[in-house]
This record gives sequence, structure tokens and C-alpha cells, in this order.
Amino acid sequence: MGKLCFSGLEVTLVLLFASVSLLAVEARTVRAECPVIPQAERVDCFPEPNASQEKCLERGCCWETSSEANVPWCFFSTSHGYSVVSQSTPDSTPSRANDRQGLMENVCFAVDIEARLTRMDAPTLFGGDIQELNFYAEMQTENRLRLKITDANQARFEVPHEHVQSLTDTPSGPLKYRLELTQNPFGLKVWRTSPERLLFDTTIGPLVFADQYLQLSAKLPSHNIYGLGEHVHQTFRHDTNWKTWPIFTRDAFPNGGTHNLYGHYPYFTCLEDESGQSFGVFLMNSNAMEVTIQPAPAITYRTIGGVLDFYILLGDTPEAVVDEFTKLIGRPFMPPYWSLGFQLSRWDYGSLAEVKKVVERNRQAGLPYVSARNKSRLLALVYKT
Ligand SMILES: *[C@@H]1O[C@H](CO)[C@@H](O)[C@H](O)[C@H]1NC(C)=O
Ligand SMILES: *[C@@H]1O[C@H](CO)[C@@H](O)[C@H](O)[C@H]1NC(C)=O
Repeated sequence: MGKLCFSGLEVTLVLLFASVSLLAVEARTVRAECPVIPQAERVDCFPEPNASQEKCLERGCCWETSSEANVPWCFFSTSHGYSVVSQSTPDSTPSRANDRQGLMENVCFAVDIEARLTRMDAPTLFGGDIQELNFYAEMQTENRLRLKITDANQARFEVPHEHVQSLTDTPSGPLKYRLELTQNPFGLKVWRTSPERLLFDTTIGPLVFADQYLQLSAKLPSHNIYGLGEHVHQTFRHDTNWKTWPIFTRDAFPNGGTHNLYGHYPYFTCLEDESGQSFGVFLMNSNAMEVTIQPAPAITYRTIGGVLDFYILLGDTPEAVVDEFTKLIGRPFMPPYWSLGFQLSRWDYGSLAEVKKVVERNRQAGLPYVSARNKSRLLALVYKT
């Protein structure tokens, strides 16, 4: 992990930024810096109901009506977000790599980056904004990049996990991706190196990092977006026409609409082109969240807690990406033999006596079944004899 260093240029940038911020404060009382952008690229600054011009301007955002359905009228200005105040130079001789036997001095692929971010002076959305953040990029393997943003001064909840861990190893070959940081406002660009292609570009919208409201958007290279859940999706490929999907394990059963069901899957695969080259994005965050997909094409995450901890996984095919994903989160388990057998289930058997009766009736009819379930609770195991 590189340590924080300030070069002369960075100090100059910080000072320059400080004076620009002062000017921006002056200017903002007149009008937010509203970018001239296609409507498809607007990042919604008022995702909750009842937006109005007045409430929008209070947030320092831009208000412009549109005749197109679903296009947000209130969208972010360029004055929101964070600035990079210091950045470690990519570590050219990481200690992780030195452990490897026979590694030539000039062959070193680990290029972790650390940066300190400060919130730009802009009105808050919901309060509780965290002023100083740490950004950390870990080039874990040739195909896997981790991007993490946390509170610089206080620990926050992070999903504990037995499989998803920091790597102690180092990439064994040249990276298939390249990371670019933009400073002011802070943004991330993840490029595939061959062919050169921008995969994940957060400069489309601001980073918002408040105690109970975290938001990040990214422009994607194609509309072929699959995944996220758990919901009933009408099509495998996502509709990118301004759809918002909640992710929160409600234990609701499939009843239409965009309702969230049982599972929490903040993961999608994006197919980049006809050749099948793809990448996956996994957000390691278990808080209630929602994801908006818009026609840029772009994705916006909004979550109410935790940290922003992304893994970007590259592959030459969707299968290779899924392989990278299960390498990260753990492979599927081998199901027990009996679970593959015939099972009976009913919403409610009423009583244990009724369960026994049903089991007995099936035995007498010679049905080779192995379990009886009351809704999803396992009640009895009856091995075929
Ligand atoms: C939006 O406005 C309606 C009508 O005034 C009100 O009933 C509702 O509670 C408002 N919703 C929110 C989230 O403010
Ligand atoms: C079966 O499930 C229903 C619904 O969850 C529950 O009310 C009932 O008590 C259960 N019955 C038994 C025998 O476990």
C-alpha cells in the first residue's frame, strides 16, 4: 500500500483548488455550475417524490424541464462531489511483489493507489455529509480491481465475509485494465487496455458520501446490462430507460412490479461488444439500496449505509466474468444428495399430526419422496426405503 505523498504539483493544485472554491462559493449564490449535457446523462438530484424548482435549487442542483418521460428535471451541477487533495504515487516497488521469488526488478504489476478526498463546498442533500474520505484502489489480479471509498476518520460498517478478503498475492501478469483518477471533482475511469475501452466512468455524476446516504454513478460502455436483484425482471437484459430497482431483502414473494424479493445481489455483468468481452461490477455493501439504470447508459447506486467497496472483474466472455465473480465471493456449494429428491411442500400443514398423515399416505401410495416442507421450513425427512 503506497503512503500518502504530496508533490509540489499537488500542493499547487490544492492551493489552486482552494482559491477556485472561494470563487465558486461566490458564484453559486447566483447559479450552480450546470453542465450542458444530453438528457440521457443527467444524474438525478431529487430521486424522492415531489421535486420542485425551489427545492432543487436549494440543493445547488440544476432545474430544467423535459418533455421526455422519466428524464429528471432536477440534476446535479458540477459543483457537487469531492476533490482529491493528496494522492500516493503508484508504488513502483510494492512489498507484496518482493515476496515473489524470481521476480525481476522491472516486472512489477501491483500499482495500488491511495488518495485523500475532501468534500467540495456545496449544499447538502440529506445532511450528515462526511468531509474527508479515503480512496483506495487495489489491483488484485490481472482481471480484478478493487475500489474502496471510506470515511477517512471513522470506521464504518463493512460487510464481514469469509471469502471476500484483501489479497496478499500480486497480479501474475500485465493488468488487463488501467485506472485513471480525475482530481476536481474526484472521479474514476476504469479502462480495458486491449482494446482500449472505457468501462466504468464515474465522472458522469458526483460522489455523495453522507452518514446515511451514499451515491455513485458510472457511465457504462453498452446497454447490455444483466443482473442486480432480487426481483422479477421482465427481460434478462435490463431496460436502460430510467428504471430504478430497490435492493433490500424484504422476504416478499414475486408479485409483479419492481419489488425487491428475498436476496441481495448488488452485482451486474455488462457485455461490452459482439466479441463477448465483458466485465462485472460487484458492490460489497449490504445496506438497503437502490440502483437506477439510465440511457447514457449509466448506473447510479444509492445506499443508506456502509462504505463504497467495488470490485470490477474483467473477462473475455461472460462465463469468464462469472468465474472471476465466484472466485471472489466463493464457489457454489455441493448440495446434499437428499435435496435433489422429490419433496412435498404446502403453505401450511396446520399441525404435526397432519404432516404425519400426509407422509403416511404417500408411503402407502409408494411415492419415493424425501422431505415434507411447510412453506419453506423443513418439517420431516422421510428417506425412501
Ligand atoms: C408528496 O406530496 C404529496 C401531496 O402533497 C404528499 O402527500 C406526500 O407525502 C409527499 N411525499 C413526500 C415523500 O414528500
Ligand atoms: C406452517 O407455516 C405457517 C406459515 O408460515 C405457520 O403459520 C404454521 O405455524 C406452520 N405450521 C407448522 C406445523 O409448522
